[in-house]
Amino acid sequence: MISEQPKTGNGAPLENGAAYSRHSAVNAAPLPPPLSGEPWLLTPGPLTTSAAVKRAMLRDWGSWDDDFRTLTAQMRQKLVAMIEPGPAGGDLPGEHAFDCVPMQGSGTFAVEAMLGSFLGANSKSLVLVNGAYGRRIVQTLAYLGQKTVVIDKGDYLPPRGAEVAEALIADPRITHVIVVHCETSSGILNPLREISEVVRKAGRKLLVDSMSAFGALPFKSAEIEFEAMVASANKCFEGVPGFGFVIARKSALAATKGNARSLSLDVHAQWAHLEKTGQWRFTPPTHAVAAFMCALKEHTAEGGAIGRCARYTENRDTLVAGMRDLGFETLLKDRWQSPIIVTFFNPADPQFHFERFYEELKSRGFIIYPGKLTTVDSFRIGCIGRLDKAVMGELVDAVRQALTAMGVKRASPPQKALFERERSRELLDPAPIQSPNPSL
Ligand SMILES: Cc1ncc(COP(=O)(O)O)c(C=O)c1O
Repeated sequence: MISEQPKTGNGAPLENGAAYSRHSAVNAAPLPPPLSGEPWLLTPGPLTTSAAVKRAMLRDWGSWDDDFRTLTAQMRQKLVAMIEPGPAGGDLPGEHAFDCVPMQGSGTFAVEAMLGSFLGANSKSLVLVNGAYGRRIVQTLAYLGQKTVVIDKGDYLPPRGAEVAEALIADPRITHVIVVHCETSSGILNPLREISEVVRKAGRKLLVDSMSAFGALPFKSAEIEFEAMVASANKCFEGVPGFGFVIARKSALAATKGNARSLSLDVHAQWAHLEKTGQWRFTPPTHAVAAFMCALKEHTAEGGAIGRCARYTENRDTLVAGMRDLGFETLLKDRWQSPIIVTFFNPADPQFHFERFYEELKSRGFIIYPGKLTTVDSFRIGCIGRLDKAVMGELVDAVRQALTAMGVKRASPPQKALFERERSRELLDPAPIQSPNPSL
């Protein structure tokens, strides 16, 4: 029996008098609750969006009409400018060496489009795997009939530059390296810059799945040498699901002509059509694009990726500190922990069952995510979306109430989980790498 009234995470006074301060270093005013009283989504996309983003979908657009073409053109320019700012830091058309090609569908469609278009008949890929999304890339390459070798680091160890360099020396036929920027299945932030440096020195090409990182974590063409990268509307940009996009150098895009073996996932064909007509090749997700343009305005108003990273970092820090106070343990060492999503071990207490925990939290207005580790039981809590540290504080309070309702006395994980984590720490190279996590 759940005794407390359902909450929608709307800032109502917390039970136990444990209300968190709603003042934030990043946001002076607390963010308003979800528009229709739905639960906060502590998930890595779809995620909680602002009221303005949702309202932007109340208008219909003709996909052939000039108004929508303008919207598409502006969106492409703004996304490119984030990777490659123009001479004055601006996003004027024509001043960029890179271009952006939106692709209909979920993030996986965009990843598959990038792989199928940038890899040719003579390509051979080295895939750096440390979680479910790396494994999905390997699976996609198998569908595409691509020659593939894999460095598999298990559930959460980061691939390091030295081992990539070694693999590239050992096999000169490898043409491309493929990496997931933030592996959302654990929350690990992979050392993209370190890997891009090694790939550049070896004269190979880098393809990046930056689905859950781009928009909040640094990604500039001046710092990362890459052939193509992919991300989607409904993660760090806080838009709604419906499309992803590929960003690549125009010369690299031009060279992909004829590679794709899929009609609808042909990046070159979509690019050429957009360039010629200003239109998407097939029915575009018009409302999702309109919502995304509003989300981009909010992104700019927040200070771009830097501002967004600051809020997500504050969300993560509030979450991790509160959960650790309750006795939970994180999977990852702080240094590797992205501000995107955090994996916690399930408590060892026999009263803890994830399904019940999930329902208890949902009834209090929060939706979390199951874990994706293969060796130990875990769950994940996202830090991205229209959330702030006040919401995270309220979530921690809801977790405390959920544990009490379930009769869970201790949130500490089983020895097996701690053993697994210690083993991974021994395997980790202690050399410092790039980290956008100054506060942890
Ligand atoms: C890193 C990464 N790659 C790919 C995907 C797949 O995206 P989708 O679920 O939208 O197909 C996700 C989704 O969370 C992701 O986090």
